[in-house]
Amino acid sequence: MSDQIKFLLDEDSIPKAWYNLAADFPTPMPAVLHPGTKQPAGPADFEPLFPMELILQEVATERYIEIPDPVRDVFKLWRPSPLMRARRLEQALDTPAKIYYKYEGVSPAGSHKPNTAIPQAWYNKQAGIKKLTTETGAGQWGASLAFAGSLFDMDITVFQVRVSYDQKPYRRALMETYGARCVASPSNETECGRAILAKNPNSPGSLGMAISEAVEIAVKNPDVKYALGSVLNHVMLHQTIIGEEAIKQMEMAGDDPDVVIACAGGGSNFAGLAFPFIGLHLRGGRKRRIVAVEPAACPTLTRGKYAYDFGDTAQMTPLMKMHTLGASFMPPGFHAGGLRYHGMGPMVSHAYELGLIEAKSYHQVKCFEAGVQFARTEGIVPAPESTHAVRCAIDEALRCKAEGKSETILFNLSGHGHFDMQSYINYFEGKLVDQDYDEAELAASLAALPEVAA
Ligand SMILES: Cc1ncc(COP(=O)(O)O)c(C=O)c1O
Repeated sequence: MSDQIKFLLDEDSIPKAWYNLAADFPTPMPAVLHPGTKQPAGPADFEPLFPMELILQEVATERYIEIPDPVRDVFKLWRPSPLMRARRLEQALDTPAKIYYKYEGVSPAGSHKPNTAIPQAWYNKQAGIKKLTTETGAGQWGASLAFAGSLFDMDITVFQVRVSYDQKPYRRALMETYGARCVASPSNETECGRAILAKNPNSPGSLGMAISEAVEIAVKNPDVKYALGSVLNHVMLHQTIIGEEAIKQMEMAGDDPDVVIACAGGGSNFAGLAFPFIGLHLRGGRKRRIVAVEPAACPTLTRGKYAYDFGDTAQMTPLMKMHTLGASFMPPGFHAGGLRYHGMGPMVSHAYELGLIEAKSYHQVKCFEAGVQFARTEGIVPAPESTHAVRCAIDEALRCKAEGKSETILFNLSGHGHFDMQSYINYFEGKLVDQDYDEAELAASLAALPEVAA
């Protein structure tokens, strides 16, 4: 048996097309609705926010969409990303399972987010747009769009959720190093930010609020567009480069995953790894277990309702059918800031409704425990978000041990945690608490979901 650890593809193997799961869904996805008329939204409704190429990708149903050469050229800076066999973790767990992980932390910004930041910035630049606004939770997405902006010479303004802005000053410095402007959200720069601060001057912010602020700036300024780091169909599409590569790399390894795992905030790194495998199954291949892992403090798939909802707190976005805790839901301030979003991407939600995927939730202390075990065996310190996938992979490997099964587990290590060391410090000092969301608040925010005729 070979004891190979890294499975590497060369630059020529960077996929030439993104994979669109919408082409293979057995039933089509529910339409996106205009927030005012509640009728299906058309491309024109998205024009204040996005360039037409991205709007067309949002509604595309063709199976493959070509990746433009200039985008592939930028991807050469870090792609194809490595697929690794976690042999030392396997040994430490004494499991008969084989554990593989796809490592997205090799990107310049440290996560999978540049996979979509680069094409989004590029399509905007092609459409003559020079200014973009966005939101960021942990700062991974903001840093990625800032990086893309620096390559394409664009002005980037990032509204960073207040609690992360305060917890993660180095990520803010990274965004500024790439030339972006970073504003703590809620802020005084927008009407919706001012309204939130008037009600609660100490608001810790949320992704839903930061999205409202970034969208407001784009809607009010015709020369500014908005970019979103997760949730939307075109973001899921761009991330499928992860799974497309992983399929080839698993073939190189001579293995085939029985279980595919990723953490899920808005669902993009999960979709990125999982959708190409789901596509293989829907086109007549083998059905694998596909597991989305979410935080117990913001359990969108496992506790949310599948309903039409707004993507943001100020109710400015179109209505999307998704698993949601309600756009007004305020998750507690736990450390995986990138997983603190009230909704799940509509494509991931649709896959869940169709029974194509499973979902699981974990509290943060068990996730950090897994992150530390991973660091001490494999050497990489996972981002707090990614520790959720690590936890689940370890639990699956331990299940295999208990059942005496040698299954193959593949998970996505969506980013490294080098800018998140304060959360590890808190973990080592015993200061991390497993916060639960407020049941009454969840009930109230679900009761406030918009009414849409069935
Ligand atoms: C490293 C990392 N993993 C996962 C996520 C969650 O986002 P998504 O569910 O879109 O992959 C984030 C979000 O910021 C992140 O930074």
